[in-house]
Amino acid sequence: MKKVIKNGTIVTAVDTYQADILIDGEKIVQIGAELLTNGAEIIDAEGKYVFPGGVDPHTHLDMPFNSTVTDDDWESGTMAAAFGGTTTILDFCLTTGDDTLKKAVQRWHGKAEGKAVIDYGFHLMLANVDEQVMSELPTVLNEEGITSIKIFMAYAREFQADDRTLFRTFKLAKDEGALVMVHCENGSVIDELVTQALAKGQTEPIYHALTRPPEVEGEATHRAIELANVAGSQLYVVHVTCAEAVQEITEARAKGYKVWGETCPQYLVLDQSYLEKPDFEGAKYVWSPPLREKSHQDVLWNALKSGALQTLGSDQCSFNFNGKKQLGRDDFSKIPNGGPFIEDRFSILFSEGVAKGKLTVNQFVDIVSTQPAKLFGMFPYKGTIAVGSDADIVIFDPNVTRTLSAQTHHMNVDYSAFEGMEISGEPVSVLCRGNFVIKDKQFVGVPGSGKYLKRQKFNHDVIQTASVAKI
Ligand code: URP
Ligand code: ZN
Ligand code: ZN
Ligand code: ZN
Repeated sequence: MKKVIKNGTIVTAVDTYQADILIDGEKIVQIGAELLTNGAEIIDAEGKYVFPGGVDPHTHLDMPFNSTVTDDDWESGTMAAAFGGTTTILDFCLTTGDDTLKKAVQRWHGKAEGKAVIDYGFHLMLANVDEQVMSELPTVLNEEGITSIKIFMAYAREFQADDRTLFRTFKLAKDEGALVMVHCENGSVIDELVTQALAKGQTEPIYHALTRPPEVEGEATHRAIELANVAGSQLYVVHVTCAEAVQEITEARAKGYKVWGETCPQYLVLDQSYLEKPDFEGAKYVWSPPLREKSHQDVLWNALKSGALQTLGSDQCSFNFNGKKQLGRDDFSKIPNGGPFIEDRFSILFSEGVAKGKLTVNQFVDIVSTQPAKLFGMFPYKGTIAVGSDADIVIFDPNVTRTLSAQTHHMNVDYSAFEGMEISGEPVSVLCRGNFVIKDKQFVGVPGSGKYLKRQKFNHDVIQTASVAKI
């Protein structure tokens, strides 16, 4: 059945206008004034923004990590994402523990199938790029339509890759048209700082932040940038938290290096003092890189505004406080790293960015949807509202005020990192490929209806082109 969205204000990365949207099946087929409805279902968006569905380029659902596994799986995680206005996620497929990359990808398909309520793709996460991986990688990337690879410079005893591995990955990515995503922190120096802190009896959550200073993020960011450039490759720096890293990315981009950067909502609105909460509550805010001194927040906002950073990922990686977070009660280095952010990414950027005058509404769309779609080979099918695009649409009420809380969120986790925060705006209805997932704030989606996305290869020209109005 056809659907028509009427009376709303359509917002893309480049324009804001009043028009109707005609949806036929999974696609947007017409945009214009006073479209004839002819028996189509009419969706009234009076007084609302009509945004392209959010694209979250950074999630960890049902992922083994830090000797445990994340608490949101593909059903609760994607449902929460949909409530929050996100219609596509890109999740990290862990390849360690499987003897072939192909098996690892199959395992990840198994986690998502029958559960995902929105569309999704995978990044391939590599720890060790040996001969076997190098020979298998091109086939897996091509067959699976995976066009991004993740490397960690951190987590010394778990995933940390050495510089040779990093460099090999950049070389392969250049040849295969993939974007290399790097977690930039110097894992060896952090490991040493953690050992020293524990030897002094410094076991509380705040030492997580104090043993990972911003300088080790800046240093690793610099190294990743230079190695990518020597290899002639493209680099995407995940979860940028601090002035030191922003400066490295800004300088590299000014020199014409192919470098892009992501930050996350938690770094924009929370600071290091949260890790000092008493009674171990600081553990709720343990993730990596850590929260920083408040002064870094303005740097991140300015970087989003100026385009030095291009995207906002959630880095969803949830662990219950009265559960897995307790593993580190006597030793901060055993607290599973990560937090619940998938649901609030979109609305926090709107409220703190647009409603508070830091970003235009078009910049908001660009950061939360269009840029990730372009960088990760999904544009213009995802990331915009255009004739021919997938009908991934968020009808958003900018005029409501609400309070974020674990009492009302949909993530499978017993706390909110943003508990008590007052925000403006809320997704009212959310469609993924023409089907309602959220209708009038109620979940009406179907587990398993989310589609696996085979993505296009990294294409610098797509990133540089303006967001088109038509396909
Ligand atoms: O603490 C975090 N960020 N957990 C998820 C894994 C990662 O580093 O992205
Ligand atoms: Zn990371
Ligand atoms: Zn530098
Ligand atoms: Zn992550």
